[in-house]
Amino acid sequence: MSFLTLGIETSCDETAASVVADGREIRSSIIASQFVHSQFGGVVPELASRAHIRLIVPIVRTALEVASISLRDLNLVAATNAPGLLGALLVGLPFAKSLAWANKLPFVGVNHLEGHLFATFLQYPDIGVPFICLVVSGGHTELIQVREKCRYRVLGETLDDACGEAFDKAAKMLGLPYPGGMFVEEHARQGRRAVKFPSPQIAGLDFSFSGLKTSLLYYLRDHREFDLADVCHSFQETLVDALVSKVALAVDETGVKRVAVTGGVAVNTRLRERMQELAGQQSLEVFFPDRSLCTDNAAMIAACGHARFERFGPSSLALPAFARQPIDTEPQMNTDEHR
Ligand code: KG4
Ligand code: ZN
Repeated sequence: MSFLTLGIETSCDETAASVVADGREIRSSIIASQFVHSQFGGVVPELASRAHIRLIVPIVRTALEVASISLRDLNLVAATNAPGLLGALLVGLPFAKSLAWANKLPFVGVNHLEGHLFATFLQYPDIGVPFICLVVSGGHTELIQVREKCRYRVLGETLDDACGEAFDKAAKMLGLPYPGGMFVEEHARQGRRAVKFPSPQIAGLDFSFSGLKTSLLYYLRDHREFDLADVCHSFQETLVDALVSKVALAVDETGVKRVAVTGGVAVNTRLRERMQELAGQQSLEVFFPDRSLCTDNAAMIAACGHARFERFGPSSLALPAFARQPIDTEPQMNTDEHR
């Protein structure tokens, strides 16, 4: 008999639910993206919460239907409790807890960043450890050494904007729609590296993208006429350079030769190409989960919830939502006082 986890994700502007069997087999993964925000050029928290409230029941129902199961068949409910927009988390999290409580099921809270990392375990269940995971999304840019499931070492992170955020802000300055990463990539395909943007100079394994953003701002201020494709291309190359060079440094410093890349920016084809080049040069194994697993989804939340439940037991039904929360690097068994 399979162990079935229902995952629920509402940390930003995707309402998602998924049923995952035994932490590795996706039986359903339903995602409703909220397009209401595009007219505002960014996510409007209040509108996100309202959309989650409207969508949560039909999305969970559809996830169960597509998996051909009923609530009675579930063994565990997992939901993102941090980090994210508080008002958005406060839809999926209490919904998941109530569902678990009413159906006498255990509940597990999941950190969204750790969820992104689990896209790798979902796609490559037999991936060896340790591996280095670059998580690049709208909210995160983190280099993490994965010692094993649920045990990590943070090697580096962004000191300012997240990498996807930098793409989105650049897109906004260039008059492209939100979320902008994919539009920058699309235009970059027709361009050349004609503009010299300064590459971020941060020592060690941390990242910084705000300088690059400012230099784009100055470039646009000083050039009333510019070639959109060339600007997108140059911006993307500079940003990808920064990501790939930090991964190379992390490999040097740790001696770990397996690298996974996940999160929404991992959809980017140029990043994938450049990582493959690096893999060739340095004899690395590189893992990219499918694009549908890289962007926000609930299958990664279910997989992570399953692993954490196996290892640490259920979370408390009093577990709060947090707008910010680092990944738990050395988690302990959940104790009664935390329940
Ligand atoms: O992981 P995700 O779906 O949500 C967060 O947790 O933030 O990532 C969304 C981010 C956005 O910033 C979006 O612009 C970026 O991923 N993104 C891309 C591409 N597709 C999505 N960035 C660069 N190139 C892409 N093709
Ligand atoms: Zn995400």
